[in-house]
Amino acid sequence: MKIVDLRSDTVTHPTEAMRRAMYEAEVGDDVFGDDPTVNRLEVMAAQKMGKEAALFTASGTMSNLIAVLTHTQHGNEIILGSESHIFWYEVGGAAALGGVVMRTIRNDSNGQLALDDIEKAIRDKTNIHYPETTLLCLENTHNRCGGAVLTPEYTESAIQLAHHHGLKVHLDGARIFNAVVALGVPVIELTKGADSVGFCLSKGLSAPIGSLLCGNKDFIERARKKRKMLGGGMRQVGVIAAAGIVALETMIDRLAEDHANARKLAEGLRRINSITVTQEKVPTNIVMFDLAPSLPVDRFVAKLVSAGVKFTSRGGSSFRAVTNRMVNAADIDYALNQIEIVCRALRQ
Ligand SMILES: Cc1ncc(COP(=O)(O)O)c(C=O)c1O
Repeated sequence: MKIVDLRSDTVTHPTEAMRRAMYEAEVGDDVFGDDPTVNRLEVMAAQKMGKEAALFTASGTMSNLIAVLTHTQHGNEIILGSESHIFWYEVGGAAALGGVVMRTIRNDSNGQLALDDIEKAIRDKTNIHYPETTLLCLENTHNRCGGAVLTPEYTESAIQLAHHHGLKVHLDGARIFNAVVALGVPVIELTKGADSVGFCLSKGLSAPIGSLLCGNKDFIERARKKRKMLGGGMRQVGVIAAAGIVALETMIDRLAEDHANARKLAEGLRRINSITVTQEKVPTNIVMFDLAPSLPVDRFVAKLVSAGVKFTSRGGSSFRAVTNRMVNAADIDYALNQIEIVCRALRQ
C-alpha cells in the first residue's frame, strides 16, 4: 500500500551513502574522547555554527536540556516562548531535572517573542522575592508556529537585549538549516551571538540519530559533564556520527524540495472544502491545518490512515503535516486527492 507519511521529518530513513559511511566508520570510546568520527563531526558542527566547540548528543531534547542545565542554577528562571518545543514537548525536563522556572511569553505567528515582553519578563535582581532570570531560549525554525523562521535581524536584537540584562541565550535550532535554506543566508548569520545552539541531524537532514550542541570551549566542557550525568556518554558512537557527517555534507540544500512540497500541500489544502490552512505563510516544511468542526475528526483520521496518508493531530480538529525526503511531489498530489475524497465522503 502507498504510504505518505507527513507526521514529521523525523521519519526520514538514512540514505545509502549514510549506511555505507556507518559501516565503514572508524570508531573509538567517545567517553575517553577516542572516537575519531565523533571528533570530526563535532569540529565540523562547531565550525558551521561559528562556535569554538560542539558536543554530539542523542537528541534535540537532550541538547536543549543540557543547554539549560549548563547555563543555569536550580531556582533560576528562564524565558521562553509560549509555543516553544522546550515548554511543550520535552516532558518538563528543564523544570524536573534543572529545577528552573519556565516563564513563557507569547510567541507571535512568526515564532518571535516581542522584545518588550522579554524585557518586562526579566526579573529585578535586587528584589528579594524573585528568582533570578538567567537564560532566554529562542527557536528557529519554530515548530508550533508552522516552521516560522527567525531572521538574523530579529535574532541579533533579542540576543543583544538578553546580553544587556546579563542573560545567556540558547537557540533551539533543531531545524536551523530549514531557516538557512528559506532565507538564503549563511547559518552563522542566525547563530552569531548565541551562547549555545542545538541542531538536529535526524530531522530533514535524514540521519538516523543525533543532535549537536555548540558553544564556547568552556560551555561545551561543562555540557559534556552534564551529558555524562544524563547517561548520554556513548561509546563507539562513530557509527552514528558518520551518518551525521554525510547529512551535513550532502543533505542541506535538498531541504528546498521539502519547502516546495509544503507550499504545494498548503495550496492544495486551501482549495479543499472543509479544510482551513491556519498559517498565512508556509516558509519551510511545516503545514498547519484545521478540519471543519462539523466533520468527525476520528473518522477523518481513520479513513486517511487506511488510505496511507498520515499526519499528526494537534488536538481537536487541528493537524500538522511535515514534508520530508520520504515524500515527493507526486505523493503530495496523492495525499491531497485522498484528503479531498475523505472530506467529500464525510460531508455527505
Ligand atoms: C524545535 C524542536 N526542538 C527540539 C526537538 C527535539 O528533538 P528530538 O526529537 O530529537 O528530541 C524538536 C523535535 O521535533 C523540535 O521540533
